[in-house]
Amino acid sequence: MTLLIKGGTVVSATGADLAEVLVDGEIIVAVLQPGSDVAEAAERGAERVLDASGRYVIPGGVDVHTHMSLPFGTDGIVASDDFETGTRAAAWGGTTTIVDFAQQSVGDNVREAFDARLAEAEGQCAIDYGLHMVIGDVNPTSLKEMDILVDEGVSSFKLFMAYPGVLMSNDGQILQAMQQVAGNGGLLMMHAENGLAIDVLAQQAVERGDTNPVTHGYVRRAELESEATHRAIQLAKVGAAPLYIVHLSATEALEQVAIARNKGANVFAETCPQYLYFTLEDHLDQGAEGAKYVCSTPLRSKHDHHQADLWTGLRTNDLSVVSTDHCPFCLKEKSLGADDFRAIPNGIGGVEHRMDMIYQGVTQGEISLARWVELCSTTPARMMGLYPRKGVIAPGADADIVLYNPNHSWTISVENHHMNLDYSSYEGITVPGKVETVLSRGRVIVENDAYLGAKGDGQFLKRGLSSYLI
Ligand code: URP
Ligand code: ZN
Ligand code: ZN
Repeated sequence: MTLLIKGGTVVSATGADLAEVLVDGEIIVAVLQPGSDVAEAAERGAERVLDASGRYVIPGGVDVHTHMSLPFGTDGIVASDDFETGTRAAAWGGTTTIVDFAQQSVGDNVREAFDARLAEAEGQCAIDYGLHMVIGDVNPTSLKEMDILVDEGVSSFKLFMAYPGVLMSNDGQILQAMQQVAGNGGLLMMHAENGLAIDVLAQQAVERGDTNPVTHGYVRRAELESEATHRAIQLAKVGAAPLYIVHLSATEALEQVAIARNKGANVFAETCPQYLYFTLEDHLDQGAEGAKYVCSTPLRSKHDHHQADLWTGLRTNDLSVVSTDHCPFCLKEKSLGADDFRAIPNGIGGVEHRMDMIYQGVTQGEISLARWVELCSTTPARMMGLYPRKGVIAPGADADIVLYNPNHSWTISVENHHMNLDYSSYEGITVPGKVETVLSRGRVIVENDAYLGAKGDGQFLKRGLSSYLI
């Protein structure tokens, strides 16, 4: 079916203009000047016309860091959103593509772990999705499997410098994985925290009787994020590999990224809305309630300048992506750490709120309108080998389009969110704009406060190599 979106302001990574968008089937076929002969002809021929007056027309959000049904520990605890509920919530929030993770833990075979995760997502998703591969056991076999996965559209690999004995790789393993991506064109994603030092501090804290959730934040010190970020950058230089630091939260880690980038290194980083809006004191330090805000890297102190520095990094491009690290656990699971913060499952649910929370940064004067689209859609698509199919409103791109009302403020609550989560870490926050209409490959899946899509609408995306690598 042909569909014309008229009357709106099309926002891209380079600016905003009044324009009309013509969609044929799943694809954008033209971006037209309003009132032009060709636009009028397109309207006469269109089977459906969407009125976007007073709305921003933006490429659908691309969230390259989510964890649907992520297992935590060994007791069968899993993140509460699965591919069905999590991608539906993403759609409600204006995100039309996610990149989640398949995970190889110690002793696992990469191929088997990947195939199992692919099967888990198959037929479940509301929006298109890709997968990164977590390499938790770097060995000769897993290194070879990385090359095969790149050929199959899995071009990014996450390693951990934290969680010793579970997912952590040592420096030698990290270097080997970096050498492998240097050869196969992939991107190395790093969870950069010094896990061995954190575990010592955590053990000492518990022995002192400091067992509250806030202690999670104190022991995961900014210096230990900075040290690991620095080490990862140096190893990437030795391994001649591109590096993407995930969920960066501390000024000191950002400084390391900026130093590397100023020297021209292929080092990139993302941050997440929780680090821009929540703090250790106001959110994590609330007794048992703080468990809702336990995530790693942790929330940082409001007495330092982390949040202001992260916004600056988003402006200067030392931070080039905002993703959510969506990893929700319900209250029952969060309360498991009532006597010991180390047992609290790590993660915050927010896949639905990224576009709104970062648009708030526009209204607060932190970033421009174009930068909002660039950080939340265009750059993540380019970074993860999805561009120009995703992340842009241009002829030939998938018709993943959001009509955003910049003048409709509303208040986030567990009562109105769509994530499978029995509280909201964002409860009570009033955001200035609202996602009104969402198209996924040309199909209207959210409109008039109703979800019109279906599970299984989303397709697996075979990704190419990152656009940012030379
Ligand atoms: O706390 C977090 N970030 N949980 C998800 C797993 C990860 O390390 O990204
Ligand atoms: Zn991580
Ligand atoms: Zn994560």
